[in-house]
Amino acid sequence: HALQSLHTFALPSHCQKLVVVEAPEQLKEIDFEPPFFILGEGSNCVFLEDFQGSVLQIANRGIEISETELHYHVRVAAGENWHQLVIKLLNMGIGGLENLALIPGTVGAAPVQNIGAYGVELADVFDSLTGFDIAKRDFVQLNKAQCQFGYRDSVFKGPLQGQFVITEVTLKLPKQWQPILAYGPLKALQGQSVSPQLVADRVIQIRRSKLPDPTVCANAGSFFKNPVVEAQLVDTLQEQYPDMPMYPVTKGKVKLAAGWLIEQAGLKDHRIGGIRVYDKQALVLVNDQQGDGTELLAMIEHIQQSVWGKFAVALMPEVRLIAAQGEHSVGGMHG
Ligand code: FAD
Ligand code: EPU
Repeated sequence: HALQSLHTFALPSHCQKLVVVEAPEQLKEIDFEPPFFILGEGSNCVFLEDFQGSVLQIANRGIEISETELHYHVRVAAGENWHQLVIKLLNMGIGGLENLALIPGTVGAAPVQNIGAYGVELADVFDSLTGFDIAKRDFVQLNKAQCQFGYRDSVFKGPLQGQFVITEVTLKLPKQWQPILAYGPLKALQGQSVSPQLVADRVIQIRRSKLPDPTVCANAGSFFKNPVVEAQLVDTLQEQYPDMPMYPVTKGKVKLAAGWLIEQAGLKDHRIGGIRVYDKQALVLVNDQQGDGTELLAMIEHIQQSVWGKFAVALMPEVRLIAAQGEHSVGGMHG
């Protein structure tokens, strides 16, 4: 089955079999013989070459909203589209997800990398999830602590990687809405009277000005994670680059903006074959001239080496790279 239209980076690739999972009960009948790959809308994974196994596309639907005195509880099937959920809740007057508007992909994939944008991450609005534990061959519920959320990270990228199919996610949104306007361009709204819809509109406007629409220009969003480095290194870099953007995370650790590092390395608009560093946001790679997996890997290595050479900072992909037998890892250290 062709995979090009099933992932937003749209490399030409095929899998041996595609199984569309419309009801969680179907999972009990699947043998899970490796290699297999769990797929949502393919906006955070890239099939570098033909995949020698089955792809399970999670496509169950359904949204149920209940309320307690202080909260809305929103129970959503994994196959629902994230942005459509955000819009549906806004239309019902329920805020809380507006900073996460316009993030592509399914609700089921959202916990995998703990999606985040504009000062909010999934963990902030998350209650629990249900999924199929492949080893136990049964459905299991996990609470927030069990999901081990971190920056672009969770238990589903660690011990449970390839072991757990998320089938349903429950969010918990306070009825007493508070705007979160601390991130960069949203600061301009501080002190004004704002609604969830107004914040969503602003987030959508900012995103449209920087990020390419995957339906128009193939891409997978930020290609690398923002690197978290030692404060000592940052002190040294700051002497040379006083305007370098940075975000303190914990004591002694600072998060740098990978897009800024790539731009400073002179790579904005750089092209290798069909793959290009996007001109409006250097953290995004686009496949705008029918590139292939070899060209993409060459681009990843070129970016990693250039940034390492200039700043001694290692960049690691944020996007999941899938080769013939499964996850493909690329080294981070160069020099
Ligand atoms: P897929 O790409 O299909 O899968 C991603 C990973 O999750 C894979 O490893 C897959 O095996 C696993 N997976 C998927 N579904 C399940 C499931 N049901 N159970 C278990 N594992 C599963 N991300 C952000 O965090 N913030 C952003 O601001 C952001 N902006 C983006 C902008 C653009 C233009 C694009 C293209 C992407 C952006 N992303 C962003 C990345 C992407 O939107 C998220 O990672 C999203 O959650 C991926 O959803 P998906 O359904 O497409 O997942
Ligand atoms: N910057 C540059 N040049 C560039 C790109 C960025 O100088 O080419 C600078 C910006 O001016 C800003 C800083 O770098 O000072 C950060 O840029 P931006 O606000 O665009 O965010 P980002 O760090 O590049 C992260 C997420 C995005 C998320 C935004 C908003 C990661 C890997 N990426 O990007 O998530 O939407 O913040 O919160 O954490 C994604 O995961 O796919 C994604 C798009």
